[in-house]
Amino acid sequence: MGKTYLVTGGLGFIGSEYVRLILTEQPDVELHNHDCQTYAGNPENLQKVDQLERYHYHKVDIRDRDAVYAAVEKIAPDCIVHFAAESHVDRSIEGPLLFVETNVMGTLHLLEAAREVFKKNPDFRFLHVSTDEVYGSLGDTGAFLETTAYDPSSPYSASKAASDHFVRAWGRTFGLPILITNCSNNYGPYQFPEKLIPLMINNAVHGKPLPVYGDGKNVRDWLFVEDHARAIDLVLQEAKIGETYNIGGEAEEENLNVVHTLCDLVDEIRGPLEAGKSRRELITFVTDRPGHDRRYAMDITKIKNELNWKPLYSFEEGLRKTVKWYLENTEWMSHVVDGSYKTYYSRMYDDR
Ligand code: NAD
Ligand code: TYD
Repeated sequence: MGKTYLVTGGLGFIGSEYVRLILTEQPDVELHNHDCQTYAGNPENLQKVDQLERYHYHKVDIRDRDAVYAAVEKIAPDCIVHFAAESHVDRSIEGPLLFVETNVMGTLHLLEAAREVFKKNPDFRFLHVSTDEVYGSLGDTGAFLETTAYDPSSPYSASKAASDHFVRAWGRTFGLPILITNCSNNYGPYQFPEKLIPLMINNAVHGKPLPVYGDGKNVRDWLFVEDHARAIDLVLQEAKIGETYNIGGEAEEENLNVVHTLCDLVDEIRGPLEAGKSRRELITFVTDRPGHDRRYAMDITKIKNELNWKPLYSFEEGLRKTVKWYLENTEWMSHVVDGSYKTYYSRMYDDR
């Protein structure tokens, strides 16, 4: 008999990529998706797979303890792969409490519900999807290891750090079979246009200003989202219980370079806004983000050596694919911008 997966946050950017991967490559898996559809939960992200009978969507808010317990108990999954979170640093500065409620308390409700499932199923696994931002900021050299001490800077990264600690504690104290992945910045299709790459592509297409924070020299490591989804499933299938893996693209870039490359790609594929004028001229330097981490870099030796994983996309290839996707999927973007993605289910299914 096939396995039953419970994914949380499967309507978001990375969660939907993971749902697509599992449903297309593992035909015997029944997949349940718990997502309460915040602004970041977009049902149109799953348009191609949500008709499958093996896919089950449940509108569950992980902040609602009773709803989480009831839903998890009913499904009795073989694993929980936990993506659901508030994920945007700038929003966490505007309103930190929601980040604690969702990322910390929501994770705790899932951990508690998972303990009940584990009592009846010794092969159960809980995989917690986390970020490199828990490690804080690096200087000009060095890279984060799985053993690097946590030192989060933003309300977002502090909430993810707290949730990582709770997941580890539930492993050590209650014997829950947990796994943790900490990944660098993802990019690719279906990313909400609040994050650097889709925001810049969308603004560049429409000739709007491209707001670069501070001096633009902050460095991020970039990973194509398909590579991340593959890594998560590999950890779920192969890793020893209790382990943590860093995941990254070995693609460090200064923000300004990323924005330059995006401008050049949009100019190349779409043509310039005006003859002889580069979209780079749209760049405007704006006030820096408070607590803005200077540099992230990941040492991914452990996952390479132990699980034989490596990123398949170079940053150049992944970025070109991403820009093309946004230029070809203007309907997806316009539904995000006009808010109509929120009514996707009623548009698609109400009259059927
Ligand atoms: P996202 O913001 O695109 O999606 C988050 C999803 O979680 C949405 O579908 C949303 O509706 C859902 N959600 C939010 N609050 C919920 C709640 N209370 N109950 C149920 N569902 C809820 O996020 P993402 O970029 O896909 O990130 C997914 C996970 O990966 C997060 O845990 C994030 O911390 C982690 N992560 C993200 C990145 C990145 O670059 N985006 C990198 C490393 C790790
Ligand atoms: P972001 O996509 O928000 O991811 P994170 O903060 O989690 O790394 O931002 C990536 C980098 O781009 C970060 O250094 C902040 C910067 N940035 C800008 O310069 N301008 C923008 O409009 C945004 C959204 C981000």
